[in-house]
Amino acid sequence: MENKKIEEVKELLKEDLKEINDLKVLNDLRVKYLGKTGIITELNSEIKNVANEDKKEFGMKVNELRTIFNDYYEETKNKIEDSILNEKLSKEKIDISLPATKIPSGAPSILEKLIEEVEEVFMSMGYDVVDGPEIEEDKYNFEMLNIPKGHPARDAQDTFYIEGEEILLRSQTSPVQVRTMLEGKGEAPVRIICPGKTYRRDDDDATHSHQFMQIEGLVVDKNISMSDLKGTLDVLFKKLFGEDTETRFHPSYYQFTEPSVEVDISCHKCHGKGCPMCKNSGWITVVGAGIVHPNVLRMSGYDPDVWTGFAFGFGADRLAMLKYDIDSCRVLYNTDLRESKVFDRKEKE
Ligand code: DAH
Repeated sequence: MENKKIEEVKELLKEDLKEINDLKVLNDLRVKYLGKTGIITELNSEIKNVANEDKKEFGMKVNELRTIFNDYYEETKNKIEDSILNEKLSKEKIDISLPATKIPSGAPSILEKLIEEVEEVFMSMGYDVVDGPEIEEDKYNFEMLNIPKGHPARDAQDTFYIEGEEILLRSQTSPVQVRTMLEGKGEAPVRIICPGKTYRRDDDDATHSHQFMQIEGLVVDKNISMSDLKGTLDVLFKKLFGEDTETRFHPSYYQFTEPSVEVDISCHKCHGKGCPMCKNSGWITVVGAGIVHPNVLRMSGYDPDVWTGFAFGFGADRLAMLKYDIDSCRVLYNTDLRESKVFDRKEKE
């Protein structure tokens, strides 16, 4: 009786275990045979009705059926999964013969590049690069730089006032000198440069803009002299414009330095012979500088009998224009990549 049932199930299996391509159908089949009330599961529970001496053989036969099903199940499942994966992969195939998508490449802004070059020169000499606010107080922008209210020098820096006479857009980076010295509390030596934006109501011709970049420098220590200033700027301009670049000082006037100078560099274009860039003089004025005025040191807490210093300030825009031979400062703020790339290429040539 039981043997007959086994034969029946065997026949059924032969019919059922054919080619299947669907995981769901396969799973249903598994439930049909091996589920809680599955055919093989139920057959197995018949063992209790089998005579004792036949139990062993019956059990073996049921196990055989289970193995037949399980082998079939594993094999089919792997086949279906493989074919799903292959189909997916074939859809994702990358055609490497297709032309690549062009990603536009940028080029560094020449103004940024110039500032970074200057920063590197000064950092190599042990300077810190510091920052200051662009919205500034009158006291830092003018007063503590020895330019009291009503001083005619204020007129030269057509300032944007924001609130009354006290809050303004800094017209120079020099207020950072004051801020740095106040932090030094009249004790520590100072060696900084500060690149940053400055603002003036200059008429908008091709060489001036209401916003421009300055780079300020300040050294306060013991026994600082004019020759330290000269040596420092000489290193800078040789690096920026070539080893044969010369620097020279001529007297000038700033309220926050005494003595004050303007610094000329020999024209890198004509090497001193005279050309339109240097207005035929062979020299180009690029920096305002001097020995820090005792009043400025005193107001910021440094005793001028103990400390001396030099300071300088120059326009980064102007320097970039000279270096890249540009006659309009608008080019520096142009976002047209084609232009930046031309300068980048020229530089690498
Ligand atoms: N602040 C000056 C200007 O904007 C530039 C300058 C001159 C800065 C002399 C200095 C300096 O630190 O010592 O015209």
